[in-house]
Amino acid sequence: MKEHTGIPGDRTVADLARTDVAHLIHGYTNLVRHRQTGPRIITRGRGIYVYDEQGREYIEAAAGMWCASFGFSEPELVEAAIRQLRELPYYHTLTSQSVVPAIDLAHRLSAIVPIQDAHVYLALSGSEANDFLIKFLWYYNNAIGRPAKKKVIARINGYHGATVVSSSLTGIPKNHAAFDLPLPGFLHTHDPHYSRYRAAGESEAQFVDRILSDLERMILKEGPDTIMAFMAEPCAAGGGVVVPPAGYFEKLQALLARYDILLLADEIVTGFGRTGNKFGCETFGIRPAAITMGKGLTGSYQPVAAIALRGDIYEVLAAESDRIGSFAHGTTYAGYPVGAAVGVRALELMEERDIVGHVRRVAPVFMDRLKRLERHPFVLETRGVGLMGAFQLREGAGIPDAAVFKALAEEAGVIVRAVPVGASLALSPPLVITEAEIHELFDRLEITLAGTLARATKR
Ligand SMILES: Cc1ncc(COP(=O)(O)O)c(C=O)c1O
Repeated sequence: MKEHTGIPGDRTVADLARTDVAHLIHGYTNLVRHRQTGPRIITRGRGIYVYDEQGREYIEAAAGMWCASFGFSEPELVEAAIRQLRELPYYHTLTSQSVVPAIDLAHRLSAIVPIQDAHVYLALSGSEANDFLIKFLWYYNNAIGRPAKKKVIARINGYHGATVVSSSLTGIPKNHAAFDLPLPGFLHTHDPHYSRYRAAGESEAQFVDRILSDLERMILKEGPDTIMAFMAEPCAAGGGVVVPPAGYFEKLQALLARYDILLLADEIVTGFGRTGNKFGCETFGIRPAAITMGKGLTGSYQPVAAIALRGDIYEVLAAESDRIGSFAHGTTYAGYPVGAAVGVRALELMEERDIVGHVRRVAPVFMDRLKRLERHPFVLETRGVGLMGAFQLREGAGIPDAAVFKALAEEAGVIVRAVPVGASLALSPPLVITEAEIHELFDRLEITLAGTLARATKR
């Protein structure tokens, strides 16, 4: 029994749970309820499966936090980390110092990102990357003589992270409540979720025109000379897997160009194959001035994120740093060699194993099984692209909410993500998932749905 728990030493599950509750602060958790429920402790992973402290097996259909693209036991990534730890566990990239893995990672990323003459900054989390990007662009606009053009528009229900600036970009009310956020100068416009926000009788094209004319009104009201940038996820993840309606990004880009507003793509979820291309920008025809990346960049075997900036923007930062005397920004672990080495190996593996090709091959099976969930009376709609998808539950008597459904699905051995917007459950399995495993995942979800229906009809 003990062998299966994965808990080292002679501690019991109860000991660990008590210690967790006593000392560890958990994000996105009701901290009072957590004291009663205690944690679920994940102790091991194999392929697309993870195992908890009781030895229970789950298909990790959310890849952790949309991020474990290679599953949970890829030896090549483990080896890359060990090799680098042996060679040079730490050095920094500040004050003109460098390390080989950071150089290689920046080089590889600049070759694949949808950004002209890209220059890459390495960070540790998606939140940091988004935060730093806004900071860099404030510097940029000051340098080019636009000190008043600093506001940023993002979208309602968008998720961009948890630092002060990235939470301000985030458009989810709970992320702002009681934190004194968003900061001034961060605005939110429509979520382009057509089926959720369309007006009665409105076509998809009419919906796009309406939400973009509202955006234009916002820009004119604030003053175009005060708006620096617009940030969007190519396909909103935490907002419930919102695939953009046809024509949305094309028209959005034309509008932003009219007012000289930079388009920033948050590719932290959509990057590195998730949508069936290397980047979501390719899937949706987006031409951004900068992108942020994270998560799948290392398959999450190390915490690494990155910013890719257009070359002309970088040149302005360089000139301004010369004028001031330094680009006075940096953190201890920027370019952290172990993380960068794992990032390099992950990018190599993506090529060697043709991960994007694999996603394209299995995505039709994933989308077909997802769509079939709509046959169930509790499912209102499904959405998705590549290997990211969501199904939305109806609201009504006997129908569980997303959090309850998530718990029921776990009883059937599958971890899905209850997104904070609407009654949706998101799926973003490891990209290495096989066709057979996709069927197993959906079989388990269908068992959960059948169980909820049986319980509801028994009442
Ligand atoms: C689209 C998007 N941007 C940014 C972030 C923040 O990344 P991190 O949690 O690594 O700070 C997330 C995290 O879920 C995300 O989904």
